Amino acid sequence: MATLEDPIEIGGVTIPNRLYRAPLLECAGNGPDAVDALIDDLEPAAESGVGLICQGATIVRGDGGCAAPGMTRVHDPDFVKRLSRLTERIHDHGSRIFVQLEHGGLRSMETWHDEYRRDHPGLEQLAVSRPPWQLRLLDRLGFLSYDPHVLSTDEVYDLAADFGRAAASAVDAGYDGIHLAGANMGIVQQFLSPFYNRRDDEFGGSPEARLEFLAVVHDEIRERAGDVPLMTKVPAETPAPIVRRKLSLEDGVEIARRLEKIGYDAVVPVQTSVVWDMSIVRGAYPERAWTNEGLQAEYDAAFGGAMRKRLVSLANRIQSIQYDFEPAWNEEFCQRVRERVSIPVLAEGGIRERAEMDRLLGGSSSESLGEGEPPACDMVGMARPFYAEPRLGARLLESGIGGNENERTRVLCESCNNCTVPQVTGAPGICRTPDVLRARGELEREGAYERPES
Ligand SMILES: Cc1cc2nc3c(=O)[nH]c(=O)nc-3n(C[C@H](O)[C@H](O)[C@H](O)COP(=O)(O)O)c2cc1C
Ligand code: SF4
Repeated sequence: MATLEDPIEIGGVTIPNRLYRAPLLECAGNGPDAVDALIDDLEPAAESGVGLICQGATIVRGDGGCAAPGMTRVHDPDFVKRLSRLTERIHDHGSRIFVQLEHGGLRSMETWHDEYRRDHPGLEQLAVSRPPWQLRLLDRLGFLSYDPHVLSTDEVYDLAADFGRAAASAVDAGYDGIHLAGANMGIVQQFLSPFYNRRDDEFGGSPEARLEFLAVVHDEIRERAGDVPLMTKVPAETPAPIVRRKLSLEDGVEIARRLEKIGYDAVVPVQTSVVWDMSIVRGAYPERAWTNEGLQAEYDAAFGGAMRKRLVSLANRIQSIQYDFEPAWNEEFCQRVRERVSIPVLAEGGIRERAEMDRLLGGSSSESLGEGEPPACDMVGMARPFYAEPRLGARLLESGIGGNENERTRVLCESCNNCTVPQVTGAPGICRTPDVLRARGELEREGAYERPES
């Protein structure tokens, strides 16, 4: 039975323990301060002992494809070379770092961000197929704005090659592995999902063909970047009232099984939705973020006026009821995938307590915590809790002063989502809930984030 402190191998690379920081928007961009911004964001987790740092989604092309403001692009090898300063800093602490590769496709920000669209009037969105009628309706009603370019077969191969090129530059810059953004409604999910993919070439028409893009991306990465560890998020799509064609949990399990056969080294099963909503960030309606006086003008600019801002806020309120917080909400999906594959399965989404982590890993030392249950996963990850406590690892891992196997350490993050909405303005990803920040301050004063060796 594994514990959080046990090492694990992914694709031949040893990760020193089973705790990972899940990908989170860093808003570091590509400017002169980008590398320092990434170091500031990611190094504290490594310093605190976290075994694997997954950098947030980075875009494989130079134009379009960003889902939100401030995303970093990795199409330019000269820029990526500069990231070796980041990877060295992570390695100095004994941790590993994977970069996540992404293209937004129909989820690119010019489709929803009014100011960005006006600043970039010529942008087309790469589309797997013509947008589904539900999205065309939202376009006609003025909530979204599409100018899709449906990829030809050759262009799909070109896009896969861009993933391969970005991976090769990343390996040169010292990244230990490649992570694909397969389940946050970006272009990888758009290829996998029958909601988006109506192609009739080798990339569509059947579940196997919808996986072909990930097969070609795999081959491109292997050819250009060698045997670097390669993993991806795997989606299962949540029910929606007017969506008939979607990926069920069983479809997600089957995708994971096939990915292992193709040669992927690890999978991250994630329940998501076919569109923008709170399915991947379950939690409360972020009242404080929406009523922040200082951000109203920027929200208006992003959403295209006060009326549309109010409608998005209302949609957010409704979604927070549908996607209320649920502890470890991907557990069942991970468990089912793990029964069918022999590569590591990484679990994330609502994991908040050390005891829960032990239980998911099947390595609880206490009977009352469920000893004997089959593991749901091989590594456990968190995202928002790292905004709340950048040095969280020190509190959770035994090597830290605050960590203690019997203590059932709970993270401070309340899943209130006050950190998420301000990011539509390009604001940095930080915790914005005063009570949580106060509690962090107290823990800092108590030395809870120190490690004996630091
Ligand atoms: C602000 C924000 C940005 C995110 N960015 C990414 C991303 O770039 N790629 C990705 O795969 N998931 C992304 N996620 C999803 C997280 O990796 C994670 O799956 C999700 O937040 C649930 O985990 P948590 O409950 O521990 O926060 C993001 C989540 C948040 C809140
Ligand atoms: S604002 Fe802070 S407490 Fe709320 S979800 Fe974000 S990180 Fe967690």
